Amino acid sequence: MDKVKVGVVGSGFIGQVHLEILSSFEDVQILGVMDVDRERARIVAEKFNAKVFDDLGQMRDAGVDVVYITSPNRTHFDYAMSALDLGLNVFCEKPMTISLRDAIELEKKLKEKNLVFQVGHNRRFAYVYKFMKEKILNGSVKPLSFQIKMNRGELLNPPWTSDRNYTGGFLFESTIHLFDMVRWLLGDVEEMYVLGKKSVYPDIDDWAIVMKLKNGLIGTFTSCAHASWMIPFERVEVYGEHNMLMNEEMEKVHFCKGLGKEVESHDFMKVDFKEKWGYVEENRIFIDCVKEKKTPPVTVSDGVAVIRIIDACYKAVEGGNAHVRLEG
Ligand SMILES: NC(=O)c1ccc[n+]([C@@H]2O[C@H](COP(=O)([O-])OP(=O)(O)OC[C@H]3O[C@@H](n4cnc5c(N)ncnc54)[C@H](O)[C@@H]3O)[C@@H](O)[C@H]2O)c1
Repeated sequence: MDKVKVGVVGSGFIGQVHLEILSSFEDVQILGVMDVDRERARIVAEKFNAKVFDDLGQMRDAGVDVVYITSPNRTHFDYAMSALDLGLNVFCEKPMTISLRDAIELEKKLKEKNLVFQVGHNRRFAYVYKFMKEKILNGSVKPLSFQIKMNRGELLNPPWTSDRNYTGGFLFESTIHLFDMVRWLLGDVEEMYVLGKKSVYPDIDDWAIVMKLKNGLIGTFTSCAHASWMIPFERVEVYGEHNMLMNEEMEKVHFCKGLGKEVESHDFMKVDFKEKWGYVEENRIFIDCVKEKKTPPVTVSDGVAVIRIIDACYKAVEGGNAHVRLEG
C-alpha cells in the first residue's frame, strides 16, 4: 500500500483532531469527510483539501482504505458494521457501541473479516498513563490496590450529553476511558459493588463502585457528572508496598518511590494536547497496522470488555442488585 486513503465520518471536534494529525502523516491521504451537517463537512473538507461524501459506499468507490468513525456514540455500531461489510478498515471512536449486545455482534463480524479495527481508547497512549504502565511493567510498583476518579463538570454542554438515548449513558462518555485504564494498567474486573443515583440530571450522574480484579487487586472507582470541572477531574492512584503512582489528568504524573524517598514527577503542561493525550501515537500505530495488516493495540475485544463493565454497572443499579460478577 502506497498511501493509506482515509475517509472520516463526523467532522466535529474529535474528527478534526484526527484529521489534523492524519494530514501531518506523509503516508496518509485524506480523501473525504461525511457529516449530517453538510455545511460543516464542506468547510472541513475544504480545509483538508478533500471531498464531501454522502455515504460509506461512495467512500469505498472513491478508494478509501480506512474509515474513521467520529460521529456521536449511538451511530458507531451501524457505521462500523456497514464499513466492515464494505471491506473497509475502521478506526472507531469510543464508545465502540452503546450496548453489550451490539459490541459482541461487532466482535463476531470482525472475526469473519480480514480487516484492521481499532477503538479510540486514547488514554493508553497518553504520557501520564504510559509512564504508569512502564513503572508497573518493570516492577518499580507492584500494584496492590487503587483509587480512581473520572469526573465531568456538567452535562449541559452540549445539551445532549445528559440524554441517555444519545450517549448510551453517562458512563459511555468520559468514564469509559478510565474503565479501560483499570483493565490496561491493573487487570480484568471480576466483581463489583455498584451504587449509582440521579442527583442533578435525568441520567444516573453519581457513581460509587468497589472493584475486585481477577488478580486479587481491590480498589474504588467514582464518577460524578456535576463536579464543576474542578481540576484534576481525572485521577488514578495505584498503591504498591510503600510506593505509589498518581496522575493529575494528562498534565502531571508522580511516582512516590518509597518511605523517605524522593518523588519523581513529570509535568506535561507545555506539550501539545494531541501529543500528551495520546492522539498522535494512537493514529500512527493504527495507520502502521493497516499498512502491515497487523492487529492494533486496542482491539474490538478490548472494546467489548470495557462495555461489559459499563453494562454490569447499569444492571447493578437498575436491577437493584449492587453486587455483580463479570462473566466473559
Ligand atoms: N477519544 C476521545 O478522547 C474523544 C474525545 C471527544 C469525543 N470522542 C468521541 O467522538 C465522538 C464525537 O464526539 P465530538 O466531541 O467530536 O462531537 P461533535 O458534536 O463535536 O462532532 C460530531 C459530528 O458528527 C456529526 N454527526 C451527527 N450525527 C451524524 C451521523 N448520523 N452521521 C454522520 N455525522 C454525524 C455532527 O454533525 C458533528 O459534526 C463521540 O462518540 C465521542 O464520545 C472521543
